[in-house]
Amino acid sequence: MLDLLVHDATLPDGRTGMSIAVQDGRIAEVTAGLDAPAAEKLDAQGFLVTPHFIDPHFHMDATLSYGLPRVNESGTLLEGIALWGELKPLLTAEALIERALAYCDWAVAKGLLAIRSHVDTSDPSLLAVDALLEVKRRVAPYLDLQLVAFPQDGVLRSPAGVENLKRSLDKGVDVVGGIPHFERTMADGAASVKLLCEIAAERGKLVDMHCDESDDPLSRHIETLAFEAQRLGMQGRVTGSHCTSMHSMDNYYVSKLLPLIAESGVGVVSNPLINITLQGRHDTYPKRRGMTRVPELTAAGVNVAFGHDCVMDPWYGMGSGDMLEVAHMGLHVAQMTSQHGIRQCFDAVTVNAAKVFHLEGYGLEAGCDASFVLLQARDPVEAIRLRAARLKVYRKGRLLAETPAATAALHLPGRAAETGWMIPRG
Ligand code: FE2
Repeated sequence: MLDLLVHDATLPDGRTGMSIAVQDGRIAEVTAGLDAPAAEKLDAQGFLVTPHFIDPHFHMDATLSYGLPRVNESGTLLEGIALWGELKPLLTAEALIERALAYCDWAVAKGLLAIRSHVDTSDPSLLAVDALLEVKRRVAPYLDLQLVAFPQDGVLRSPAGVENLKRSLDKGVDVVGGIPHFERTMADGAASVKLLCEIAAERGKLVDMHCDESDDPLSRHIETLAFEAQRLGMQGRVTGSHCTSMHSMDNYYVSKLLPLIAESGVGVVSNPLINITLQGRHDTYPKRRGMTRVPELTAAGVNVAFGHDCVMDPWYGMGSGDMLEVAHMGLHVAQMTSQHGIRQCFDAVTVNAAKVFHLEGYGLEAGCDASFVLLQARDPVEAIRLRAARLKVYRKGRLLAETPAATAALHLPGRAAETGWMIPRG
């Protein structure tokens, strides 16, 4: 007797009429038209079942703090960092934990079950680190939270930056972060990349740096990150986040850079909602978009994922933990409007993000965790277009969240009584 049998599911690869058999929290079998006794049966009605969403880049220590102590009036990255500096002395562990847990509720309801969050390690009290380690422990039954030691004020620029980062790792933070473009000089930025990669290599940790979150075409720390990843044998274990300067770089230089990144096995995380909002702020017109070169990186063989980065914090006042909204913005900004491009944007918040995360047991195959989402959409393209309702969210075979189908009742002469914004299919 199975624990759960999903039938008539469409899968992201296009297979229809599929059954998913679940036993002991794992997928036992994925096959067409299976019928077997099960404690729970779910009729997917031809809708899309996808592995859950993953956010590979977030800041949970700042989330839901919008307006504390004031809002970011200029909307720039630098005012956001200054505002975060004003907020930090006012933070309490209790309030931070409460906001983070509330965000995780939102995330689960949106089918987002794994989040990589940076946590600011600049403050010697490490209050945010301790608070998010506590959150990680509390949400573990329903959400994978991976933490990155993030020296927001610059690991070399801030007093005791290196020591605070190492103390955070000692406490159990998973990944080594950095912010080379915020160090005092280009040389210091490069030195920080080398130092932080060496710390990670020594401790067997992954690396994920905020890298070149700037419109300065000469911000080239991604080159150093790729070089260090290769030198230290860390292929597949290093991520460059944002990489927005690549938008503004000289094309000839980029033609050398892309193969270098691919060769180093460095992955790239772009954050479309934030990049389109924060970049280009020093421009008059035309205004640059500032997002990194997603199609070109992908074509070069680089693993590219999309992150949410911020939700209602000093940098961004919008968001609800919806990775389909992230993918939607990504495809617009990168003009990835072909069917193939849109599906790549869906991959960027699912399978590609899982690679960044090094998440085990992810996928819709026998042996994977039974962690999936039933969407009110018939394929990944429709899912992004509609930011489709997450009808059911399962983790390891357990139902975590449900959302009613989104339909509007219509009162129109001679027309159907309702619409779900889907093109009629013959
Ligand atoms: Fe970030």
